Amino acid sequence: MTPTNLFRNRPVAVIGAGVMGIGIVQVALLAGHPVHLYDVREGAAAAAAEQLGATLARLADKGKLTPEDVAAARGRLSVAASLDALRDAALVIEAIVENLAVKQALMRDLEAIVAHDCVLASNTSSLSITAVARGLELPGRVVGMHFFNPVPLMRLVEVVSGLATEPAVADAIAMLAADWGKTAVHTKSTPGFIVNRIARPFYAETLALLQEQAATPAVLDACVRGAGFRMGPCELMDLIGHDTNFAVTQSVYEANFYDKRYQPSLVQREMVDGGLLGRKSGRGFYRYPDGAAKTADGEAAAPTLPAVPLVLHGEGPVADLLASRLAGSGLGFTREAAGEGGGIRLRIGDGWLLCTDGRCATECANTLGVHDVALFDWPVGPAAAGAATPVVPLAWTVAAQASDDFAAQVAEVLRALGWLPQRMADVPGLVVARTIAMLVNEASDAVEQGVCDVAGADAAMTLGVNYPAGPFAWLAQVGAAATVRLLDALDAFYRGERYRVSPRLRRATWTAPSAPAATAWQAPAASAARSASKEPTASTAPPAER
Ligand code: NAI
Repeated sequence: MTPTNLFRNRPVAVIGAGVMGIGIVQVALLAGHPVHLYDVREGAAAAAAEQLGATLARLADKGKLTPEDVAAARGRLSVAASLDALRDAALVIEAIVENLAVKQALMRDLEAIVAHDCVLASNTSSLSITAVARGLELPGRVVGMHFFNPVPLMRLVEVVSGLATEPAVADAIAMLAADWGKTAVHTKSTPGFIVNRIARPFYAETLALLQEQAATPAVLDACVRGAGFRMGPCELMDLIGHDTNFAVTQSVYEANFYDKRYQPSLVQREMVDGGLLGRKSGRGFYRYPDGAAKTADGEAAAPTLPAVPLVLHGEGPVADLLASRLAGSGLGFTREAAGEGGGIRLRIGDGWLLCTDGRCATECANTLGVHDVALFDWPVGPAAAGAATPVVPLAWTVAAQASDDFAAQVAEVLRALGWLPQRMADVPGLVVARTIAMLVNEASDAVEQGVCDVAGADAAMTLGVNYPAGPFAWLAQVGAAATVRLLDALDAFYRGERYRVSPRLRRATWTAPSAPAATAWQAPAASAARSASKEPTASTAPPAER
């Protein structure tokens, strides 16, 4: 007998007729289960059943269901007047208010009603499954079944095991979720489970950059979309609602004993306090109904190619990308080996354009002993496409010591290479690099701590929040060495807990030091740059503040 047989065609009870409950009912009905729907609020379950009937009829109108499917599904749904009516259920899924005491009381009530082999699942998005099961006679049958909104469309289900959850129960729920057309990912009952935990830096890095006044929301969003994300962090927070997004961040922060890595943002709290909640209040980072600017401020003009010698140093994917875009741009250039210290660098006249390694440009200039230094963000996703179309935004910055002429040349070169250059303040790790490195870091810690496995983390982030790639797919592309180097540089710059490197990630830099990707994203060491530069060294020429 496979675990799925535990539930096939057997009655499922859903408690809570809100947005999640009704979505779960729809999925269970269409999978062939008789479904009971109960809600403590008088008339709520009946109204939700009515609404679901209309939804199914619309699906039939669109040809996605037959009228017979709809009639059969409606015939399998019953509105329960009390919990007693759920006694024949093989599985109860609660989707009631997110309150531990209320969920615990419901579980206790259910234990007195349902059969001993009935599985009790909770759709909680933030509470501990261990705590939900506490005090029950049979806590081993309590499991998290965390759906994503909208339930009929989102493919991910996190199957959450508390300390007492029997593995066979978690396996049976995972197989049921697969039967329902979902991808189940196992996770331990830890704050935020997988998705809500690993996704925190996606918002946090942009909020930190906004606090530092590094760029506008439109620029940050454009750069992140340039890496393949469907929405930038600011427009996504506006969509989710800042109150909801802030509450999740705060709950993960508190549940981690106020670990500074998860510290909420003052920028966002101010918005919540001011009622700038996003789309639902008409204003967040953007004003609605117009919404987010789809392209950042006009830097798309035809480039005027600079008449300066261009020399590309270095090897690996980023150097190859630069070479292919240089070749396609019509800019004349020569290519030389990486030389001492390795790293990717494009010499523009006497200045350097480097791929970020987590230091700010001013520090790079100071260390290299070169005034004219600029940095560009990690080209990831569409920004890493060899061809220059479609033109995508790429963040860049210059050192405080750099001349205005050099900054203008860099912008022209980036434009000629087919990017929409988005100039930011001289912050370390720009925006895409620090965001992706932090997502990788968080995922590495989740795996290190047994919250999920590598495949589970990638599946959860691509299916649960539609990321263009999973964190470990990015890690394979960028390499552990470049990721750790970037995080260590951010840690050294900001000196806090936020950029603490995951032990799993740091170990990876020692176990695979010669992987080609490990050096592909590096900026040059000081000696390599100096040997090829006419500029004075840092020791003889302190940076001139501008
Ligand atoms: P909702 O507020 O839309 O619906 C909750 C329903 O539960 C209401 O109809 C309410 O009357 C009913 N209810 C409250 N206490 C009850 C009780 N003791 N017995 C029976 N019914 C009761 O809430 P929503 O958004 O559907 O969330 C439900 C659960 O799903 C929460 O645990 C939430 O954290 C979780 N969740 C929500 C997601 C979302 O995007 N809204 C995503 C994933 C999980």
